[in-house]
Amino acid sequence: MECEKELMKKVDVSRLPAHVAIIMDGNGRWAKQKGLCRVEGHRAGVRQVKEVVRFCSDLGIQVLTLYAFSTENWKRPKVEVMAIMSLLRTFLRKEIEELNANRVKLTAIGRLSEMPSPALRELEKCMAMTSQNDGLILNLALNYGGRSDIVDGIKRLAADIQNGKRALQDINEELFSRYLYTSGLPDPELLIRTSGEMRVSNFLLWQISYAEIWVTPVYWPDFGRTHLLEAIIDYQARERRFGDHK
Ligand code: FPP
Repeated sequence: MECEKELMKKVDVSRLPAHVAIIMDGNGRWAKQKGLCRVEGHRAGVRQVKEVVRFCSDLGIQVLTLYAFSTENWKRPKVEVMAIMSLLRTFLRKEIEELNANRVKLTAIGRLSEMPSPALRELEKCMAMTSQNDGLILNLALNYGGRSDIVDGIKRLAADIQNGKRALQDINEELFSRYLYTSGLPDPELLIRTSGEMRVSNFLLWQISYAEIWVTPVYWPDFGRTHLLEAIIDYQARERRFGDHK
């Protein structure tokens, strides 16, 4: 693999994807490979979250959405779920200073009200304390599912029709996007998935309609700056036609 400096020369900084979304997969397999428990894999995963957030912020990416916990992840053993929630809380508590120093604004998408209250409290505190920042938007998908995003959006839109705020004929793609959790954010232009799986796994189903997908066999705890640069270089080399074949 080329070194970071060489890769950096190939990146056109004027054409960076505004929104990068990442399915962070492979923490468990990374741990198993090393004879460690799964929680150690998640702990190593958090280290890479910090590294990738710092790098996206330095590069000038506008939005980074990380799939940290899906609506399906509750089915995992209770100890693993509790460990992930605890890692999340520690991350939020410890990183707040650095997020503010780099002007990173924290946001979150998902059915947040169903999150365990200690994690939710820390999340709300961190969002409030970074809300005025104008740098990278670090958007954490927590208790997130693409289908529940759409269903919840439909419910909010239906309620607004019922209370007379919207009319049926107002509904179009642009209006509906405003009812999704990602309202106000640009759609992801680059979707990265680690650990080789060729699946979308219920992530941002509406929003990734035109995203370029980049899959790497590398497990998330081994994913670093050079891999992100490779993904961006590949994204920039692709011709993006949005279905237009003229
Ligand atoms: C996927 O690996 C990873 C997760 C489901 C959890 C990701 C969570 C973190 C990195 C920690 C908390 C997040 C933040 C933002 C601080 P896997 O367990 O599915 O791996 P496997 O497929 O190899 O078993």
